[in-house]
Amino acid sequence: MAGSGVVAALSVAAAIVAPLLARFDRRLAAAVLAAVIVSGAGAGAAPAEPDEEYGEFLARPGDLATVPVNDIVKSLRMNAGAMALGRKVYAASCASCHGADLKGIAAAHTPDLTDGEWRFSGDDLATGGNVKLPSDVEWTVRYGIRSEHPNARGLEADMLAFDPEFRTEDDIKEFGPAAFLTPEEIEDVVEYVLTISGRTADAARAARGDALFHDGTKGNCFDCHNVDGTGSDPIGSTNLSRPELYLWGADRASIRESVIKGRRGVMPAFEDALKPEEIKAVSVFVFSRARGPGGR
Ligand code: HEC
Ligand code: HEC
Repeated sequence: MAGSGVVAALSVAAAIVAPLLARFDRRLAAAVLAAVIVSGAGAGAAPAEPDEEYGEFLARPGDLATVPVNDIVKSLRMNAGAMALGRKVYAASCASCHGADLKGIAAAHTPDLTDGEWRFSGDDLATGGNVKLPSDVEWTVRYGIRSEHPNARGLEADMLAFDPEFRTEDDIKEFGPAAFLTPEEIEDVVEYVLTISGRTADAARAARGDALFHDGTKGNCFDCHNVDGTGSDPIGSTNLSRPELYLWGADRASIRESVIKGRRGVMPAFEDALKPEEIKAVSVFVFSRARGPGGR
């Protein structure tokens, strides 16, 4: 009869699904366990020591060493292992400069790592780097920013000191020793920067500053910060339209000092300081904490 055929089909289906469900439950348990481990420290309670769980549910640190970081995040087991290790590495090697909450420390001039706003270009071919990947964080950690490493980020440019007295040797070689802006013109440019970041400013000065900002022989600011001042990912220049993204202070006096003395944020390279699996794990951990497009 047709009825028994359906029953038979259903029981076959159940026989196939039941073990899958059991497996799924175990995976779910592993994911929950990993989440507990990852969130445990903040609560002050000692997190479950993950060591005995390494293996089936959490990849052992050494297992991560040779796996590309963008593949680690595709595996429940490897991702959980990386999160557990990465949280420890972060606390030991990064929190002093970036804060235990990853939100940056003003005095250390570090960005908020949780805002999903990355200062430097990504490596995603399809989107021209607009979509950011865990491997983008890995590059920053491995080679640093304006560090001694030849692969470091930010080596192409820093914030030029418009008072030549404060200019670095490299910048003198590249830009020469000229001032480009008089002290009065610097005041004009500062007022313009205040207006593009939505603050009130001296309108007449800001109008002159606008012209200087976009004049290739004067401020030339647009060359590194874009025509609209929103910054340029390939060189890691600040998005000047968003005060909360400034690393050196967004008030009038700080902006003036940025223009006069230049800025040169440095992050060390961790290539020799951390093991490959530690670099990958901390990159997975940090990337997972960033919200918004390209990192959730
Ligand atoms: C050669 C490229 C270059 C030029 C030219 C340049 N900038 Fe910058 N600027 C940068 C970079 C790179 C940074 C980020 C420095 C850092 O991360 O420490 C920056 C940072 C700044 C900051 C500090 C923002 C913060 O994060 O606190 C201000 C303000 C600024 N620029 C304004 C200007 C203005 C105004 C001009 C033109 C008068 C200008 N810049 C010209 C590359 C440049
Ligand atoms: C000695 C201080 C210091 C330490 C330690 C440090 N950083 Fe940084 N980090 C910085 C500074 C400063 C910047 C911003 C540089 C700039 O662009 O001006 C930065 C930038 C970054 C960025 C780039 C953010 C963006 O918007 O593109 C990432 C990612 C990052 N750090 C991750 C880490 C991780 C992970 C660790 C630990 C392995 C770490 N940092 C350790 C100082 C530090």
